[in-house]
Amino acid sequence: MLIKTIKSSDISEQQVTDENLYHSRRSVLKQLGFLGAGSLLAQSANAAPLDFFSSKKDVVFQQRALNFQKASESSEILTPEAKVTSHNNFYEFGTAKGDPVENAQEFKVNPWQLKISGEVDKPYTLGYDDLFSSFPLEERIYRLRCVEAWSMVIPWIGFPLAEIIKKAAPNSRAKYVAFETLYDPEQMPGQKSRRIGGGIKYPYVEGLRIDEAMNPLTLMSVGLYGKTLPAQNGAPIRLVVPWKYGFKSIKSIVGIKLVEKQPPTTWNILAAREYGFYANVNPAVDHPRWSQASERRLTTGGLLARNRIATLPFNGYGEEVAEMYKGMDLRKYY
Ligand code: MTE
Repeated sequence: MLIKTIKSSDISEQQVTDENLYHSRRSVLKQLGFLGAGSLLAQSANAAPLDFFSSKKDVVFQQRALNFQKASESSEILTPEAKVTSHNNFYEFGTAKGDPVENAQEFKVNPWQLKISGEVDKPYTLGYDDLFSSFPLEERIYRLRCVEAWSMVIPWIGFPLAEIIKKAAPNSRAKYVAFETLYDPEQMPGQKSRRIGGGIKYPYVEGLRIDEAMNPLTLMSVGLYGKTLPAQNGAPIRLVVPWKYGFKSIKSIVGIKLVEKQPPTTWNILAAREYGFYANVNPAVDHPRWSQASERRLTTGGLLARNRIATLPFNGYGEEVAEMYKGMDLRKYY
């Protein structure tokens, strides 16, 4: 069950300096002999009380078994939870980084319906509880590189998108996957006002090629830092595609449709010259208005020079994903 997701520069929580709570939870896991176990699922059914989340307000994951990513070699520091949940792009709640945390707190995520449809033999719909119980949950530590040249390192909880797709039994015409965010202007002020919503035509839509969608790195996330997703991070379920710029990681998803043709995507509709369909992290191809050669890693905050690091092709996940783009001109298919 355990997928080793990061090869070239694995991450360790040993280096987490300012997330004491998270760290101590992991220590308890270690003492219990859980960390590094191939499958926590099998053990945890009869395991000691799952009290390592008890200091968290959120109870959804208390009863659930998680497969924790084995993160033994170290090179990076997690972005503090407070930063992850307060520095967001979620234009449905406003365009400034602090808008989503301020404007999304009343966002209702239960009940929820996520519909899987299109070129499949078995279309189905997942309700709110199904999001947490239909597929084995795992924790994955991923780098998220925003097109605006900042990045974070985040411990996500979720399951591979491939699981959702396989369950729907796609047919041979399923060449792409189209995603759609909830459209609810009453709850999302950015959908009501062009000024608040940055001129985007809502609902926010995204897409992946089917092989990208089936890649084991591609995650459907329902939590981070041991808790269900905060609204501003895309509750109750969002995509995380770690080798692509952050805008591909669409939030608060209500529709996943298998389609034959490449689907339209929000940022490409808004500014095609600046945002392509593929959006693979690529330090060699600049954004028309700024360089993509380096990024500011958001760690303990601040604009410290030491936080500026070189951007890696495919955000450092090339070993796992570069093969999919063999023979493609990545300047043309940006
Ligand atoms: N999804 C929706 N529906 N609306 C958005 O505005 N912003 C994207 C992406 N998903 C966005 C979205 C961008 S630009 C980024 S960088 C990431 O979400 C940010 O995710 P985070 O706030 O969890 O860091």
